Parts: sequence; C-alpha cells; structure tokens
Amino acid sequence: MGDRDREVLSDDAPLVEHPVARRLPGRRKAGAASVSVDQQQVQSRVSGKGDADAESRAGDDSAFPDYLTPLELFARARETKQPVRICAPMVRYSKLGFRELVRAFGCDLAYTPMTVAENFILSKRGRDNDFSTNEYDHPVIVQFAAKHTEMLCTAAEMVAPYVDGIDINCGCPQRWAMSEGYGSALLRKPQLIYDMVRAAKSRITIPVSVKIRINLDFKKTIELAQTAERAGADWIAVHGRTPSMRHEPVILEGIKAVKDNVSIPVVANGDINSMLDVNAVAAATGVDGVMSARGLLANPALFGGYAFAPASCLDKWIQIALSSRIPYSLFHTHVMNMDDPRVLSKEARARFFATQSYDDGIAELKREHPSIQAHLAPLQPERHCEKVIDAGDEPNKKARRAAILGLPLEPELPANPSADADDSSDVALIPW
Ligand SMILES: Cc1cc2nc3c(=O)[nH]c(=O)nc-3n(C[C@H](O)[C@H](O)[C@H](O)COP(=O)(O)O)c2cc1C
Repeated sequence: MGDRDREVLSDDAPLVEHPVARRLPGRRKAGAASVSVDQQQVQSRVSGKGDADAESRAGDDSAFPDYLTPLELFARARETKQPVRICAPMVRYSKLGFRELVRAFGCDLAYTPMTVAENFILSKRGRDNDFSTNEYDHPVIVQFAAKHTEMLCTAAEMVAPYVDGIDINCGCPQRWAMSEGYGSALLRKPQLIYDMVRAAKSRITIPVSVKIRINLDFKKTIELAQTAERAGADWIAVHGRTPSMRHEPVILEGIKAVKDNVSIPVVANGDINSMLDVNAVAAATGVDGVMSARGLLANPALFGGYAFAPASCLDKWIQIALSSRIPYSLFHTHVMNMDDPRVLSKEARARFFATQSYDDGIAELKREHPSIQAHLAPLQPERHCEKVIDAGDEPNKKARRAAILGLPLEPELPANPSADADDSSDVALIPW
C-alpha cells in the first residue's frame, strides 16, 4: 500500500490484514476448487504455516488452486476469528469488473449477480450477458434463481468448471420473482429448498449455499436453515430482514438465531457499511462471514478498512474498466455510486455526472485527484460459460425446457426477468 492510500485510511477503522496472503504462491490452477483435499494440507494452507510433509504429499501442486477456496476461507475465519469478507450478489453490479475492484481492497469472496437457471441453460445470449469470468476471478460464487431441481442442477453442472460454488437465491422479494416462484417465494417451500440443495450436492463437487431472509418468528428461520444444512448446504447467508422489510434496520438477533442453531458457516448480510460494522456484527452474532451490497457500491474499499473510496480505488476502477472494456455507462454508474463528498466534491460530482466518455470522465477525476495515474493495463480476456449439456440453445428452447423438466410444452419464459432482480430499491438501477 502506498502513502497516497494511507492518507485516506479512516482513523476508526484500521486496516485488517489476514495472516495469509490471498494468492498462495507456488499453486497455480484457477478453477480447480472442486478437488477433494487432505485435511492436513487444508490446515497448512489455511494457517499459512508451511507443513513440509503436506507440501510434499501434495506432489503435483496443480491439485490446488492458488487461492483459498470458500471452505478454506471459512476454516481460516474460525481460526483467526475474523469473518470472511464477502461481496453480495447484485444484479447489474457485482459483475466481473466490480468483483476485481473489491478484491483489490480486501474482499475475500465475491458473488455474481443472480441469474435465472432456466435462462442460463436455454439461452446463450442470456448466459453470456449474465455470466463472465476470467482466470483471476476467484473465489467466485454464481447465484441462481431456481425453482426446479433439474433446472438448477443442469445450470450448476454447466457452470461448475468456472466457479467455486453455486448459491440458491431464497431471498429476492421482488414481485416478479415471487410470482414466478423464485427468491423469497422459496422461504415457504422448505422441501423444495431441501430437494434442490440435495440434488445439486449429488451432481457437482463444488459447494452449494443458500441466501435467505429471516422470519420474525425465528423458529421458522432456524428450521429452514436446519433443513438446508440437512440437505448438505455448505453455508448459509442470512439477510437479517424479512421479505417485506426494505429500509428498516437489520435484525441481528435473527442472524444470531441461525448461527446458534446450525453447524455450517453462517454469513451475516445487511447494513455492513464499514469495518466497524463488520466487527460489531461479527461480535453480536458470532458469524463466520459478513456480506455487503450497498456498502461496497458506495465504498468498494470498505473491506480494506477505508472509510470512503480513496483515490487509489478510483484509479484501480479506471484501470479495470479500460482493460476489460467496460461500457462507459457502467463505469460512470459505479463512480456515481461512490457518493461520499470526500470521493468527489459536489461540484466535481456534477461535472463528472455530465461526462459521456472515458476521456472526459477520467479528466474530471484527475482534476479532483491529481494522484490518479490511469495507467492502461493489458487487455483481460473474458471467459464465458461455453459448456452446454447437450445441443440446443435458442431455436428449440421450449422443447428443451420441456425435455429437461420431463413435462409437456410450457408457456413462454419471461423476457429477461433477472434484469429487474435486485431486492432493494435504494440504488438506482441504470440499464446498460
Ligand atoms: C442493486 C442491488 C442488486 C441486488 N441483487 C441481488 C441479487 O442478484 N441476488 C440477491 O440475493 N440479492 C440481491 N440484492 C440484495 C443484496 O445482496 C443484499 O442482500 C441487500 O442489499 C442487503 O445488504 P446491504 O444492506 O449490504 O445492501 C441486491 C441489492 C442491490 C442493492
């Protein structure tokens, strides 16, 4: 970290460093997260204490990825008593570039935006639009909206070679999702959650998790979490609001109730806007991980202990955006989301808001922060999910859907439901 960064470190939220570097030297096999591993080797990777025997037993080091897998991160959290720092799934926002940005500032694990499993399987365009990755995009969890075990498992099998886990969205309260039987609608169908988790666990070797919202009757939330655990879920993320809550404060007791009653790792979500919140929520609930959505949009550097996005964060975002050819509108939206006056003064924000090109936008940012270098990084090749279970994308969608589900032909799919899938209304969603 350079001096430039230190100047803007918050006094009250010191930088938290984990004992192990996120990238593990000498191990190089991105996407190899699904291997089964020797417990002692895991222990040595997690603790960072080299175990010569385990190292030599590893022999071919390609068996391990060069990063800590999600389960290793949770094991490390238990050892260090520091929760895993997680970027939440966010439709339109937690895309590849943003995941790279938050990882550069202390995020351990990142989720993709939710994608409807059915669209993922049946449409190449939908798949490519919602999911892209690259060699460095690890560890990453892809989140699916699903309501059929077979659809979920087929999508999971397709994407498994590219990611480190899959998650089932059981929390989205948006009207379209609920009426389609996705998201929060699943909270009333524990048997379906059980079936989907169990089936996915039997078909893929990477972890399967669920993200839920709470019920004010905590007993029901506990039962649901225990159901997911019995089915084999590897961890549970709990957004501490009910499906009908929007801006009310998160109910930490609901998250704690889950943590106290399951053995698998539990992740707390809701209103994590600083490292102070991270520490307070971890202390109040005992969770193994913390997940932030809007806090990271406003300050992608928050997990690094920064009180607001420093100039180095803007600089990194410029570099990522240029090197991965992010459309200017998305670049612009993310900068506007960093809405602290210490990032851009009111006047600079207004000037930046009016910009329509990288040249003009970067010039404005440099005017405000002369330390910004805006170095051009080499182009990053993106990967899409090329795996198709069997032939038949677009043209025979209906027939394929019916075949997967073993049903007669069904009505049309909604056009692109995942495009409206956020479950919070306080961040403007600008289509791009
Ligand atoms: C713009 C936006 C998009 C979101 N998209 C998703 C999503 O795709 N899947 C999901 O499970 N939750 C989604 N959420 C909800 C967040 O993951 C998170 O549960 C919620 O915002 C509460 O966390 P926060 O207080 O840190 O924002 C979205 C939230 C926002 C603001």
